[in-house]
Amino acid sequence: MHLSREEERAYQGELGESLRKAMEILVALGEIYGADQLIPIRSVQVAGVSFKTIGEAGLEWISDLRGKVAVPAVLNPAGMDLARWREMKIGENFAKKQLKVVEAYRRLGVSPDCTCTPYQIRPELARRDDHLAWSESSAVSFANSVIGARTNREGGPSALAAALVGKTPRYGYHLEENRIPTHKIAVDADLEPSDYGILGFIVGREVGEGVPRFRFRRRPEVDELKALGAAMAASGSVALYYFDEDAPDAPKGAEEIALTAEDLRAVREENAPDGDVDIVAVGCPHSSPNELEELARLLEGKRVERELWICTARRIAERCPRLVEKIERSGARVFCDTCMVVSPASDRYNKMMVNSGKALAYVPGLCKMRAAYGSAAECVEAATRRG
Ligand code: F3S
Repeated sequence: MHLSREEERAYQGELGESLRKAMEILVALGEIYGADQLIPIRSVQVAGVSFKTIGEAGLEWISDLRGKVAVPAVLNPAGMDLARWREMKIGENFAKKQLKVVEAYRRLGVSPDCTCTPYQIRPELARRDDHLAWSESSAVSFANSVIGARTNREGGPSALAAALVGKTPRYGYHLEENRIPTHKIAVDADLEPSDYGILGFIVGREVGEGVPRFRFRRRPEVDELKALGAAMAASGSVALYYFDEDAPDAPKGAEEIALTAEDLRAVREENAPDGDVDIVAVGCPHSSPNELEELARLLEGKRVERELWICTARRIAERCPRLVEKIERSGARVFCDTCMVVSPASDRYNKMMVNSGKALAYVPGLCKMRAAYGSAAECVEAATRRG
């Protein structure tokens, strides 16, 4: 990989030990994937924030780094709401470690916005054709597919290294040739908003790490695309998909998949709740203001009978205090900075109901509990049902 003089100096350690470590990671990655050079990036989203996933070794690695990030950088969700962790019944020990992780990132200049939807709170972080180094799979999918930016799915260390250097190796989804559709997906159904999570759950399993090109009867809304991409990134590892009428076509011979309303119904039925749900969690990916508004409307005049968590970014909750207040009047909790999958707080439950194809795919493996799927209205119904 070609390095400029300045990059070479950083690689040799002439600009400090942290930059040397960062360059070592970027060069190693570039060499593995055949990158020809490093390219400047607009922003970074760093995974590896929840103490549940990074543990002591991760905390030590971040704490040992010095210096400041060279481009705007934000964090993925942490293992708890950084302010209301006691309400999540997080232990003191975990909380102390989690706060240290966030503080260590903050010292490096990473903003403590802990969210998988940075595009909802700071649109300037990613514009069309920008190169990025983002980590969280649903954010990566959204950036590539909806915004039209270019990012690989970075691991925690490579994202942080990219933030310190302000560059990333040019390979994978940064290159045009890897952005060509591989599958044609025809969806012959009038979709409800809650169908997109299930659709993504099905398509991700079918296409793996392919690049699906959808044909829909109508253009999906932004929150629907958010749900679709998140689910495909979790049940498969889709980092880029196309949905616009004028998107490039998959080449001749590409695999074609046709899905009907019946296919979606069958998977929904397989994953319908069967009465033993003990927690309901929505906001995967983090809820938008529109989604909070819908939940506030659905919860109006109701009381929750079992835990109902709504996960969102702190800046969204702060932007919508009246909605948060209305939601919480029902006994539901709006938690920020975290989510049902990366927080150990959900470990004490047995069956979680979600309205997210991504959570449906992840909860059984990562939280070791059963999962059920429903729309936002069905989730509220399950949370407020007596008995
Ligand atoms: Fe976000 Fe957690 Fe879902 S990081 S996409 S809410 S699993």
